[in-house]
Amino acid sequence: MTSQQLRSEFLNFFEKKGHKIVPSFSLLPTDPSVLFTTAGMQQFKEYFLGKKSPYGDKVASCQKCFRTSDIEEVGDDAHLTFLEMLGNFSFGGYFKEEAIKFAYEFLINNLQLPISQLTVTVFGGDNEVPRDEESVKIWEKLGFSEKNGNLRFCGRADNFWGPTGEEGPCGPTTEIHIRGIEVWNLVFNEYFQDKNKKLTPLKQKGVDTGMGLERLAMTAQDKSSVFEIDLFTPLTGMINNQDEKAKRIIADHIKGAVFLISEGILPSNVEQGYVLRRILRRAIQYGKSVDLTSLARKVVEIYEDIYPELKSRETDILSVIEKEKEKFGEALKIGINTTASEIAKGDLDGETAFRLYQSHGFPLELIKEEAKKAGRVVDEEGFYAAQKKHQEVSRAGAEKKFKGGLADDGAEAVKYHTATHLLLAALREVLGPEIYQKGSNITAERLRFDFNYPQKMTDGQIKEIETLVNQKIREDLLVEMKEMSKDKALKIAKVSFDPEKYGEVVKVYQIGDFSIELCGGPHVGRTSELGVFKIIKEESSSAGIRRIRAISLGHATSK
Ligand code: ALA
Repeated sequence: MTSQQLRSEFLNFFEKKGHKIVPSFSLLPTDPSVLFTTAGMQQFKEYFLGKKSPYGDKVASCQKCFRTSDIEEVGDDAHLTFLEMLGNFSFGGYFKEEAIKFAYEFLINNLQLPISQLTVTVFGGDNEVPRDEESVKIWEKLGFSEKNGNLRFCGRADNFWGPTGEEGPCGPTTEIHIRGIEVWNLVFNEYFQDKNKKLTPLKQKGVDTGMGLERLAMTAQDKSSVFEIDLFTPLTGMINNQDEKAKRIIADHIKGAVFLISEGILPSNVEQGYVLRRILRRAIQYGKSVDLTSLARKVVEIYEDIYPELKSRETDILSVIEKEKEKFGEALKIGINTTASEIAKGDLDGETAFRLYQSHGFPLELIKEEAKKAGRVVDEEGFYAAQKKHQEVSRAGAEKKFKGGLADDGAEAVKYHTATHLLLAALREVLGPEIYQKGSNITAERLRFDFNYPQKMTDGQIKEIETLVNQKIREDLLVEMKEMSKDKALKIAKVSFDPEKYGEVVKVYQIGDFSIELCGGPHVGRTSELGVFKIIKEESSSAGIRRIRAISLGHATSK
């Protein structure tokens, strides 16, 4: 069966069993505590918690998913960043018996898989949640048991799923493995887990299942890796002169990038844009001699009937990939020189390696290559630790609506936040060094900034400030963060708030030689990520305090 047939076979099966077929949701979830849609259940989260579902209590879907957690695994036989998840869901309708029987019937009757290829796992219980005896009994009736050697028990890590994000429904699972590969996960949502990881039984029991289409196709098409199925061979067939792992990485990452760009994501140094940049640059890096544009066109061709948004955004998708390739090329030139001078000093610690990666987009693989040539080593573990810290800082900042006036999360707010630093530095240059920030408020649409100045600004001054900020944006200045003691920071940087409010170790953000401020972040990586800066209003806020409102128009072109 082709993947296309498997998709429709699955949806038709569940439609006949009384499920409403719901289209795939976007890869960008509405839940701000997660970056991407990673599972079919996310769009139904609130119906598991008792809100009435407009689709009825039984639904099925084929959901686009993107899993950052698997980026490093890509290259083996079964892991992907972008995948399609087939799922059936029940919100207080059926529970374990039907869910298990449906799965069995679909695999054995519809796909005619030999029962001997199937093994299952069941939640074995721990000190909080009991062993799932009900599922065991149902499986036993179908011929699966510990005694038969085709049922085993697993713990929390393997057989308990959810919640996505900070809180939500979760529960024990039973998993179906085909020829040893985990293919279908059946989650029984019996609990609500809150932000403190406390479990409370749910009044309404739910079923959430997920089966990776690519893994299902791999078994149905009798292949030994997901890269050999019909959704990948047209891509891998276009990638020549590469070892198998590189081929897989290029094919997976270009596919992932095409889908992310089709959702309006652009490469940047924060959040979703950061993930896109990472996979795109990795694909470019591995596929130096590969025609990535043709590869991206092929991805559109493979999926356009199912996801028409790919075709309608094809031009944008191709031009984003081309532009990132150019940018990466430039970054590599600069990065290679900076890396060389760091290597000349000795082995590279993780922080330094991460800084080279973060500031110049210079991939770890290349840093390692350069270091090796010079007989030096790179602290890889330190690199990943620094990267993790950066991501946490960046996400925590975006999610926690942080003190510096960042009332909105997301990439736009982060850009406006960096723009306020440029604005303050420009105000000081034009109006005088005694200018201080007196308040700021940022949404995804605009920034508002209050500062001390006794009179109305002239049109000439406003123009001058705007021009200066835009000049700094075009200069593509590096935004660098350093942690240091408060005493040291106060000597070199400006503060926007009462210094007493800061802890003993503080973060200092420096933008080229233009601005240096104490701040919690997050910020963009380079100023060229900001749009054209435009002041739309200058007014009085209170006695001696002026207020500026400014917006960003599209994307500034970097130099
Ligand atoms: N939500 C479950 C998963 O993603 C089915 O594995």
